[in-house]
Amino acid sequence: MTNLAVNTTILKTVPLFSLFSDHELATLFPAIQHRSYPRHSFMLRAGEKTDALYIILSGKAKVVIDDGDGREVTLTTIGPSEFFGEMSLIDEKPRSASVEALEACEVLYISKPAFMACLKDNFEAAMLILRNVVARLREADRKIASLALMDVHGRVARLLMDLARDVNGIWVVDTGSEEMARMVGASREMVSRVLKEMRDGGLIRRDKRKIIVLDRASMDQRGTVR
Ligand code: CMP
Repeated sequence: MTNLAVNTTILKTVPLFSLFSDHELATLFPAIQHRSYPRHSFMLRAGEKTDALYIILSGKAKVVIDDGDGREVTLTTIGPSEFFGEMSLIDEKPRSASVEALEACEVLYISKPAFMACLKDNFEAAMLILRNVVARLREADRKIASLALMDVHGRVARLLMDLARDVNGIWVVDTGSEEMARMVGASREMVSRVLKEMRDGGLIRRDKRKIIVLDRASMDQRGTVR
């Protein structure tokens, strides 16, 4: 981890901070560090008793829980402008999961006391945090339902719909099958088999290491709990 200089121009690019006045930002400024983490490093680990908030400026990270025996489940992936670490900040319990950099990441690290002092006087900023936590709860509900009610075909279909990005009208997924397996709670072999069936059925095609979703309507249908 490397510390970089913080500046107000960077702070203004973050949606959460755009809700703060210049005076609030000036109060927060000394409590913020600009940090850089290399790929595959852990920005925080499950069980730690730390209470800062992190906001991603650039790069991609995954939120994971592991069983200490090398098996892990990926809860979600997060990227620029998204924050993490708010759970321990709010309930003062140990970190609920680990956050690992999938790519080199630059983050803002904000220590708790100054941040909470600002939130106390800023309803909009508190609501933004709350809305994000609620969105994560909805997403977690959807995952619980898909794990309990869908077979691996359905879970992979839902995941592909969630991961696909529109690149000039083409729906591209650049997550590997091993990572996908950790996200749907299945073996890599099973996920590869499902992907092959989808390819044979014309739902997807492969483009080097990427997956292109060809038939979004059928994919959506397969990945919906009814
Ligand atoms: P905290 O518990 O402080 O540290 C780990 C962080 O991972 C947690 O705060 C959240 O920011 C994030 N996190 C935990 N579970 C989820 C989830 N299901 N979806 C998105 N982010 C999560």
